[in-house]
Amino acid sequence: MQETARAAITDDDLFALRWDRGRRDLTGPIRRLYGESIDANAFLDRLKLLLQWHWRERPADLRLLDLTRDLNPDWFLSEKMVAYVFYIDKFAGRLANLPAHIPYLQDLGVTYAHMMPCLKPRPGANDGGYAVMDYREIDPALGKMADFQQATLKFRAAGISPVIDMVLNHTAKEHDWAVRARAGDPFYQAFYRMFDDDTLPRAYEETLVEIFPAHAPGNFTFYPDMGKWVWTTFNEYQWDLNWENPEVFLAVLDTILFLANKGVEVFRLDAVAFMWKRMGTGCQNLPEVHDLLQLLTQSTRIAAPAVIHKAEAIVGPSDLVPYLGTDTHAGKVSQLAYHNNLMVQYWSSLASGDTRLMTHVMKTHFPESFRRASFAPYIRCHDDIGWAITPEDTVHIPHMDAKAHRDYLSDFYNGSHPTSWARGADFQVNAETGDRRTNGTFASLAGLEAAVEADDPALIEAAIARIRLGHALIAAYGGIPLIYMGDEIGMTNDHSYLNDPGLADDGRWMQRPAMDWTAAQARTGPAARIRADLKHILATRKATPQLAGDVPTRVIVTGHRALFVWQRLGDDRSVTCIANFTGQPQLFRVADADILPDIDLLTGHAPEIAQGLMTVAPYACLWLR
Ligand code: GLC
Repeated sequence: MQETARAAITDDDLFALRWDRGRRDLTGPIRRLYGESIDANAFLDRLKLLLQWHWRERPADLRLLDLTRDLNPDWFLSEKMVAYVFYIDKFAGRLANLPAHIPYLQDLGVTYAHMMPCLKPRPGANDGGYAVMDYREIDPALGKMADFQQATLKFRAAGISPVIDMVLNHTAKEHDWAVRARAGDPFYQAFYRMFDDDTLPRAYEETLVEIFPAHAPGNFTFYPDMGKWVWTTFNEYQWDLNWENPEVFLAVLDTILFLANKGVEVFRLDAVAFMWKRMGTGCQNLPEVHDLLQLLTQSTRIAAPAVIHKAEAIVGPSDLVPYLGTDTHAGKVSQLAYHNNLMVQYWSSLASGDTRLMTHVMKTHFPESFRRASFAPYIRCHDDIGWAITPEDTVHIPHMDAKAHRDYLSDFYNGSHPTSWARGADFQVNAETGDRRTNGTFASLAGLEAAVEADDPALIEAAIARIRLGHALIAAYGGIPLIYMGDEIGMTNDHSYLNDPGLADDGRWMQRPAMDWTAAQARTGPAARIRADLKHILATRKATPQLAGDVPTRVIVTGHRALFVWQRLGDDRSVTCIANFTGQPQLFRVADADILPDIDLLTGHAPEIAQGLMTVAPYACLWLR
């Protein structure tokens, strides 16, 4: 018998294998994005060197994590995953204090910790940290890179994946690249979108939408010292990067891999919809964006396979789907994407007590599953709610008009509608279209603030039930539910930002209160109830394999106006979820979902069915198996 040589596998062998596996997913996008403008082979060589360099720098513990995830690439789809999203300063003060709060997160069941923008921002106004001046340094107000690394180690040891924002549509105008560009360096001027006069900017403006029409109107800014117009989609101090320049891709990838080697496991790719621009379009969701995301994701997968990406594209339903990979991009772009449409539909159904639009939108636009990707469903986040409701969908609902419904939701959630229980506020009223977005915390929009003020136990009960419904929805819909800091204890709107001149013009600070640790310790009252409800929901989720992200989600059309029904189609058994969006009990015909359930997983009881009808309590969400 011949003896097999047992040579050790080296890190370079591993890299070579990963490069071979990944390069075929790089060449298509490179050709489509950069075409004749570059020598594709020379570019691939540079990319390979960059990836190899970072791979060699990668710490041993992270290389072990890479191997673990090579073997279990579906790790992020597990039903055990639960995300918590927070500002380091508002949650813990500084980075160094963060590990002390890990037990609190573990008690909730958290396995994914999104630390809101924490890289070094520009001084002064910085859009909540989304105007980054240095991607390789931590915001000095929070600590140093060493503190950050310490925190990532502690998180990982506790089974929690560290997550940060990667702002890649723009940098602060104080970023080194922008400073050099402004000083006249042509190499760095090509990193941004600059124009010598306003001819092109004016032509682009014809079809662009306004993101901050109220506090930062226009998409371009003129700098007299440079004599140039710069593309500034968001605020004046956020300069849009020019992703048509392959050097931008290499420079941003370099930063991502640098941070990955500091222990980041998930990058939240900020405002990705805007990355590519084309004259005559709205410059959002262009097909090139998906090539860029494939290039970023597949490159990261070669040099840091443990790392995944979450796309932040807050767009309409049909534009959202490709962010999880369709057609040739299936399984190759961002592994996660915010489900802003589920969020919008939750609020829409709750206000009107009518789920028909929700059922239509969720059923017609979204596939039951994606290849190796899933959503990050949520109810609230640090941003405003944009009412992504289009005529394309409302036309299917009798007597519903898209604009009228958007106006209704704005009025309902700013509290001015006569039937409203909500406390919120309009945001970025668009003078041209009349559209208004909405600010407010989960609890305030769900009625808790007004109910507590009125000291009315029945109203408090209803508000707590609406919050429970939202949490049960995102925990069972599919993907990783995102719990936004303070929502687990029903924190209400915070108006203190109005006293800070640097923040006062941005109403989104209303939903960014500092963590109320006293309320978090409470044993009775609404905060304690909401937290106990959520803990129970998350624990039940973790014990239910049918709720994993790779189990298909099928929306069931029952025709019942008050109920939203969906099924998680497990291999052997399915779970059917029924959510009642009204404050009245509703009767559900079990034949409509073709089920004979033994148990409601959330209550642990067998559902009572009489003559084929089941009662669904006000604002209840049943998880039937
Ligand atoms: C994302 C962020 C938002 C920010 C914008 C610009 O949408 O969530 O807070 O203003 O990007 O970076």
